Amino acid sequence: MTWMSCVLLAGASCSFAAGSHSLRETAAGWFEMGVGISDRIPERTNDWPLLTTQFSAVTPENCMKPVAIQPADGRFNFAQADAFVDFAARHGLKVVGHCLVWAKDDRTPPWFYRDGDRPASAELLLQRMRRHIETVVGRYRGRIAAWDVVNEALDDGTNFLRPSGWEKACGEEFIAKAFEYAHQADPKAFLIYNDYNNELPAKREKTIRLIRSLRAKNVPVHAVGLQGHYELGRLPLADLEATLVGMRELGVKVVVSELDIDAIPRARWWADGGKHREELAKLDPYRDGCPPEILKQQADEYAQLFRLFRQYADVIARVSFWNLHDGQSWLNYFPWQRVNHPLLFDRQGRPKPAFDAVIGELSAGK
Ligand code: GLA
Repeated sequence: MTWMSCVLLAGASCSFAAGSHSLRETAAGWFEMGVGISDRIPERTNDWPLLTTQFSAVTPENCMKPVAIQPADGRFNFAQADAFVDFAARHGLKVVGHCLVWAKDDRTPPWFYRDGDRPASAELLLQRMRRHIETVVGRYRGRIAAWDVVNEALDDGTNFLRPSGWEKACGEEFIAKAFEYAHQADPKAFLIYNDYNNELPAKREKTIRLIRSLRAKNVPVHAVGLQGHYELGRLPLADLEATLVGMRELGVKVVVSELDIDAIPRARWWADGGKHREELAKLDPYRDGCPPEILKQQADEYAQLFRLFRQYADVIARVSFWNLHDGQSWLNYFPWQRVNHPLLFDRQGRPKPAFDAVIGELSAGK
């Protein structure tokens, strides 16, 4: 492995010897390689070498979410987002803004929905949305290349849209408006509709319906974001391929926006009315390290994924991981506390077998 000369710095990351493989460079010609990272990256100097050698696009994990950037009506908090964008510019990294509207009630600041002691009207809600989007997108015009405009609006059950204050007041119109306002605020920005499980048949159909409907109204939507939060042993490869085919037919780009492969599968957390939660909450099998056979399985699965991504590189504009290395993954906490190993780099920022597998796939056919 070419990484043996990786010099460990205090804390977490490493610096790399010339000649080391780079995801960003190896993926050139296929798609961009990005990563969702901590809002505090400007201070985390130890993470910089790993980040800048491997990735070309960054998504801030939290600081641009509505609840962080406008927690109260008209009170905008730009300090962290400004520092993030400045950091990215200094390091030649493209920024993906995330996200303008998160169509979930527990992720929308409550003031958006209220008008005194009554629910806000559709008109007021859209007015607030317009001001939010104009202010945020306008501030970073030309410096944020792509936006996740609407996050997670499709329903997990039998409805088309997830029930929310947005959907209740405005129906599908709120999605169209969000894209229109974003486009007006920065006509050059690449605008994305982002969701999870949208490679699976139910949400795939809803995604196709949504994109068709937006396109019929000339709404500027440029890509669908497939979050790509997968679990070991449960890669939905056939469904993913069917979705990529569907998006290709629609003529819309795809970004894989938040990729990881959970080493400690979590689906049972939601199964059978939540009755396995007590048992799962104690499950922490890889506290002392991830066994080689699990790392091998994960490498094989990442290879399968990237083989597919390569075959659909005409449709896929970017693949972004969610978090820089295993020690920073949200899956160490969600949906229960465990020492997880979902990414390509370990807690010291050293490449795992999955890294070599991805590099191998990205190098093939070149
Ligand atoms: C969703 C959101 C992300 C992030 C992850 C978990 O996928 O889009 O912003 O919150 O959940 O960290």
